[in-house]
Amino acid sequence: MGLPEGFRWGVATAAYQVEGAADEDGRGPSTWDTFSRTPGRVRDGHTGDVACDHYHRWPEDVALMAGLGVDSYRFSIAWPRVQPSGSGPVNTRGLDFYDRLVDGLLAEGIAPAATLYHWDLPQPLEDAGGWMERDTAYRFAEFSYLAAERLADRVEMWITLNEPVVVMAYGYAFGVYAPGRTLMLDALPTAHHQLLGHGLAVHALRSRNARTIGLTNHYSPAWAATPGDQPAADAFDAFMNRLFTDPVLLGRYPAIMGDAPFVRPEDLAVIGAPIDFLGVNYYQPTRLTTPSEGPLPFDITDITEYPTTGMGWPIVPDAFLSLLRTLDSRYDLPPLYITENGCSFPDEIGPDGAVDDSSRIDFLDAHIKAMRTATEEGIDIRGYYAWSLLDNFEWAEGYHPRFGLVHVDYETQKRTPKKSYTWYRDLIASTREHAKSH
Ligand code: FCB
Repeated sequence: MGLPEGFRWGVATAAYQVEGAADEDGRGPSTWDTFSRTPGRVRDGHTGDVACDHYHRWPEDVALMAGLGVDSYRFSIAWPRVQPSGSGPVNTRGLDFYDRLVDGLLAEGIAPAATLYHWDLPQPLEDAGGWMERDTAYRFAEFSYLAAERLADRVEMWITLNEPVVVMAYGYAFGVYAPGRTLMLDALPTAHHQLLGHGLAVHALRSRNARTIGLTNHYSPAWAATPGDQPAADAFDAFMNRLFTDPVLLGRYPAIMGDAPFVRPEDLAVIGAPIDFLGVNYYQPTRLTTPSEGPLPFDITDITEYPTTGMGWPIVPDAFLSLLRTLDSRYDLPPLYITENGCSFPDEIGPDGAVDDSSRIDFLDAHIKAMRTATEEGIDIRGYYAWSLLDNFEWAEGYHPRFGLVHVDYETQKRTPKKSYTWYRDLIASTREHAKSH
């Protein structure tokens, strides 16, 4: 089957996208609360105020995971629940929620994998400059320490940051995600400060005896539209695929960082602290052209020759395989976990009460096959997390895209497992049977 022994199947979510309970038990506001409550920022004014109400319905959701037979659940810990103002004392009631969740998972034999920063920065920290400020890195390490102090005895995997490139690009450069700033290339300090926060957090987590520690990056193979566009593709590749990986695994920045005054000489050793795994999120490749104007060294153009998901993202499982090969040839890699992969479609409940999402099954099947090919070639991949367990709040697109293996009716909060849920359950069971018989 091409999968190593002990390979972990999982599902992933993130706090702001599923929890709801935005003002409960002492939670403070995050940048996403502010952003989504600002008219015009999120499609149809959707917010994460209620989301999937996972904060209250987590037992039902854990039961759904148990029904799938997953080995692990990747969730995120909301910083504004733990430290409502981003610094200072712990809000115990906030940590209590994760304590209950972790125990509930362990009772079902599901390994908790916790992400510490999946984009919900406490608003007071943003008011003080957010990731443009070096101080935010130290605040993040402190929060990581507090979370580990309470949970490290039971959480098996820790992911410091989720997709820092998206925070930099969408959050601070283009302003389409929280905090909605439009700094363009002046957003580069947010790359360094997130990475510094990662390195400091690794140290803080280890001091609290946290087990397996890593970070999760978003990767997108860069395709030049024509041979003449190769420099544009290389520039995109440096921003998207190397800026947040080279410093961690090679101890240096790609040339695009230039001679940045905010990078202190001693920082690279902090950022390059050994990690136990690299988390890989993959959705789609990107096609680049030479820019006609503007400050960026590339333009993005549509890939039109492949079928697309509900987000309009081209479905190219081969690009996933080539990404894994590229990572393997570029770096002396730690073990990899695919921490996100999945797709949205406009899923509806049919007259028979079922959700027939065969396009999702085809997507997952093809991408899991690509991953298997990579493991057969010797690339050390230890787990795969489908995005997502539930339909949820898809950032600027609100509740329109449906990424879940389980359909959520937002009026009633009713969960309906889709056909892909049954398919994934059967896949997990069959790989286990196969492992047993060998
Ligand atoms: C990723 C995010 C995740 C989800 C998927 C669709 O970039 O990490 O929260 O929104 O995209």
